[in-house]
Amino acid sequence: MTDIRHRIEELRSELNRHNHKYYVENAPEISDYDFDQLMRELQELEKAHPEFEDPNSPTVRVGSDLTQAFKSATHRFPMLSLSNTYSLEELYEFMARIEKEVGDVEYVCELKFDGTAISLSYENGALVRAVTRGDGVRGDEVTANVRTIRSVPLKLQGEGWPALFEIRGEILMPYATFERLNREREEQGENLFANPRNAAAGTLKQQSSAVVARRGLDCTLYQMAGENLPFSSHWENLQRAREWGFKVSDQMQICHSKQEVAAFISRWDEARKELPFPTDGVVIKVNRYADQRALGFTAKAPKWAVAYKFKAEQALSELLSVDFQVGRTGAITPVANLEPVHLAGTTVRRASLHNAEQISQLDLRIHDRVYVEKGGEIIPKVVGVELSMRPATSEPFRYIDHCPICQTPLVRYEGEAKHYCPNSLNCRPQILGRIIHFIGRKAMDIEGLGEETVELLYDQGLIKSAADLYDLRAEQLSGLPRLGEKSAENIIRSIKGSLEVPFPRVLFALGIRFVGETTAKYLASHFRTLDRVMGASREELVEAEEVGEKIADAILEYFADERNRALIERLRQAGIRTEAEEQRLASEQLKGLQIVISGSFERHSRDELKALIEAHGGKNLAAVSGNADYLLAGAKMGPAKLKKAEQLGVKIISEAEFEAMIGGEIQNPQSAIQHLESELDKPADSEDRKTSEENEIPVQGRLF
Ligand code: IVH
Repeated sequence: MTDIRHRIEELRSELNRHNHKYYVENAPEISDYDFDQLMRELQELEKAHPEFEDPNSPTVRVGSDLTQAFKSATHRFPMLSLSNTYSLEELYEFMARIEKEVGDVEYVCELKFDGTAISLSYENGALVRAVTRGDGVRGDEVTANVRTIRSVPLKLQGEGWPALFEIRGEILMPYATFERLNREREEQGENLFANPRNAAAGTLKQQSSAVVARRGLDCTLYQMAGENLPFSSHWENLQRAREWGFKVSDQMQICHSKQEVAAFISRWDEARKELPFPTDGVVIKVNRYADQRALGFTAKAPKWAVAYKFKAEQALSELLSVDFQVGRTGAITPVANLEPVHLAGTTVRRASLHNAEQISQLDLRIHDRVYVEKGGEIIPKVVGVELSMRPATSEPFRYIDHCPICQTPLVRYEGEAKHYCPNSLNCRPQILGRIIHFIGRKAMDIEGLGEETVELLYDQGLIKSAADLYDLRAEQLSGLPRLGEKSAENIIRSIKGSLEVPFPRVLFALGIRFVGETTAKYLASHFRTLDRVMGASREELVEAEEVGEKIADAILEYFADERNRALIERLRQAGIRTEAEEQRLASEQLKGLQIVISGSFERHSRDELKALIEAHGGKNLAAVSGNADYLLAGAKMGPAKLKKAEQLGVKIISEAEFEAMIGGEIQNPQSAIQHLESELDKPADSEDRKTSEENEIPVQGRLF
């Protein structure tokens, strides 16, 4: 071995050891400075000697700026979910059922970590693959991103690991990191993450692993999967995994009785408040694999484990005042200003109050002590009042009857809980809100033009509506505060670039009430052109998927307003897209062929297969008939169908044969689907979907 190679390996192993000391054991041996020196030396050597490259070198921890399309990968063992309960009674019933079936049983109680699940594969002691849960059968391969997480061992220490195994756990974002990240995002005018779970999941799906590296994720492992595990129980294997370098929770305990389980739960329901990362319950698992096997699985979850979920944490704080925000539709949202209070890992200063109804139902008064609770939203909500602590002098709260911004009398529409400011034309937050919605990432995606710049342009009299954006010239912008020549040009370029945004997003950008991203997609694919949407009657509108009467009325109302029609006319003049694109086919391999899908498949869901058939020019048939050319047969297909196909002479093909027909194995069926179906949403069948960046919520709590 050359000296250089030797030094490289020495540095890698030293750095791996220090990483583990620092990130897993919390017991660093050397200073950050010394660590950085070693890292730098390794980076330089690797740069000078690319022949010694190793995907598991500790230098990958810093990530790369290269973007990556995530391939989907099938889990060797499905990633199931857990059945859960909020009640001790139910938990005891669960334990009684188990004990009835397998007799004396050993349980392991552990925390339920509130992040995003990951499955790590190791081959000969090296990390080879990291896959998200996805739909449980297949997930996204996010290996490059996971390699940047310092507590994930890239090479295992010690000995005795199986040549091939998977270990599963949770990727977490500590509260402190989450708060820092959201603070930075708020400063940049970017969307905030609703909670650490969404932030962890969103981060994991980042295109650039360098961004992931900076986000400070952590990973705790809680389950081993594989054939040749060293021990025959969950507990023993996890303790062993800790010796190999994995971060395995210390907060685990073997329990034999419901008393012990209950004690573990009640201890952690309190103690978890001191943990630096979010947890939302306790998982109770049967320890011995033999017992687990005897108990088996349901379709979704193992019968040998259950999650006991903690009730949402509450905090008590004083209501100092109430602000009223005016949204882009004129809706008024009351927001409570609170005496700062610590709740579920973060400091809470504001809480949402929903509407006047809620305030009067709670009989909420200024200076009341109120209970706040965190749901899935960014802003916690006020859920109750501690009447016993009400000051004697307090008076009922008087809701506003005029817009706090433009003083117009507020109105209430039938069936709506909120008050509205009807002055949509001249009320500043409504105008700004509409423009900000218009330029948003999921709408016209005009980069470089954040909320603050929009406010600035409005205050300078340069824009009054979204249509004015298209008349802006760089020289009008470059003299403004905080805007140099370069950023002015960038803004103009991205405004022009937005003319390429596809029609469904244009429709969403208009900001019609109740027409969210998905509804806009359905409308666009149903009507194809803006003219047809505008001309549609109520009856015609409700024919589009997802469009009910409420949405139809909002659409009619929007287009009935001549100011909106004038805005659209100007946008048209500017050149925005008002027609849906023709669907482009991925290929014509299946042109003219009619295919029936039946059974379940290994590599694709049925929806994916359907989309693939269409993407390649074929047609889906619901049932086997004489018209069918092929029956795409999966596992568990009914024998009657098979027989019918044989009788009718319909050719029967497997998933692999189908893949061959459309041009070889498809690495990422989603990309093919998105290619075709950019206008339709993915079915909401995967857990990842709920937690991806889609769930970022726009900055709230701002008053214009
Ligand atoms: S075991 C087959 N243990 O909870 C059981 N899961 O609701 C596999 N989770 O997708 C999971 N903490 O993301 C297990 N200590 C723990 C856990 C845990 C959090 C998550 C996991 C899973 C979800 C199920």
